[in-house]
Amino acid sequence: ELQEKDSLIITNDFARQYYEDQLHQTDEGKSVGLSYFRSRGFRKETLQTFGLGYAPAASDGLLQAARAAGYKEEQLEKLGLVRNGRDFFRDRVMFTIHNLGGKPIAFAGRILRKDARAPKYINSPETEIYHKSDVLYGMYQARQAIRKLDNIYLVEGYTDVISLHQNGIRNVAATSGTSLTTGQANLVKRFTENVTLLYDGDKAGVKAALRGVDVLLMADLNVKVVVLPDGEDPDGYMQKVGATAFEKYLEETRKDFLFFKADILLEEAGSDVAARTTAIRDIGATLALVTDPLKRAGYLQQFSGKLGLDESLLVQLVNKAIADRR
Ligand code: UTP
Ligand code: MN
Ligand code: MN
Ligand code: MN
Ligand code: MN
Repeated sequence: ELQEKDSLIITNDFARQYYEDQLHQTDEGKSVGLSYFRSRGFRKETLQTFGLGYAPAASDGLLQAARAAGYKEEQLEKLGLVRNGRDFFRDRVMFTIHNLGGKPIAFAGRILRKDARAPKYINSPETEIYHKSDVLYGMYQARQAIRKLDNIYLVEGYTDVISLHQNGIRNVAATSGTSLTTGQANLVKRFTENVTLLYDGDKAGVKAALRGVDVLLMADLNVKVVVLPDGEDPDGYMQKVGATAFEKYLEETRKDFLFFKADILLEEAGSDVAARTTAIRDIGATLALVTDPLKRAGYLQQFSGKLGLDESLLVQLVNKAIADRR
């Protein structure tokens, strides 16, 4: 018997095929969608790997095609593909979001031209088959590489995943612009314990990385962070400098979470003793999340060395933070 979830996935798969056909086989799709993806440097094979497509400007192309093929409007509405008798995704390039088995569970559509009135990306709603907070974009395409390399890069955006994958970094997945959740950390943990956060090189990216560190530590993962040059995101920087220089940058600037956080907070605090104390407590609270006592002791030693502070004082601080949490 066909379960509701299976039937939702089958309907989504029809939509995925529709968007792909529109991209590759229609004049509009070729001149608008394909040329957009080309301008982003995406190769043909990459379009296939990630199920990229095109949603035409017309108001109900998908709805018509789906109806003709015998799909129910109610299903399309449930999936967020149709609203009030019109296609939800129109005049956008399409990104398919897969589950771990490679089935389409949701979509994102990117606007083609700058428009201050419309959101850059619109996304499928939460459904029975799509729980956003438990999904990482690109995980299906990345899973083998993550296991093999025993490491994952977490980025913010769809195009970051695609660019890195196309340039040989295949152990990469995206939080899709929202803050990292425990569900996502647990998903990562099924494949590796080693995470490198690689967020956009702006204030928001650094803030998101600081929060992400704590979430990942709470899931008992090992966390490193790479901060990109100001204003760059992984896709933009990859396209700018190429794969060799990009990987060299990763190697050279990758920091343990401790030094990432300490460098940022201590620089912000400057030489003001009160501000510095607040910063040290904050870093101590993060260290308190490291559950392995041996590992924690190692970080405490490093941190006290960095600060030139008495190690036992920091141990006390962290132990108190642990006790306070209980
Ligand atoms: P960014 O604004 O950094 O976009 O948002 P991007 O990934 O670099 O996209 P391009 O390169 O301009 O095409 C990061 C992520 O946040 C989510 C998307 O997942 C996006 O990839 N986002 C962003 C949305 O869901 N909606 C938006 O309107 C903007
Ligand atoms: Mn469910
Ligand atoms: Mn950004
Ligand atoms: Mn970005
Ligand atoms: Mn970008």
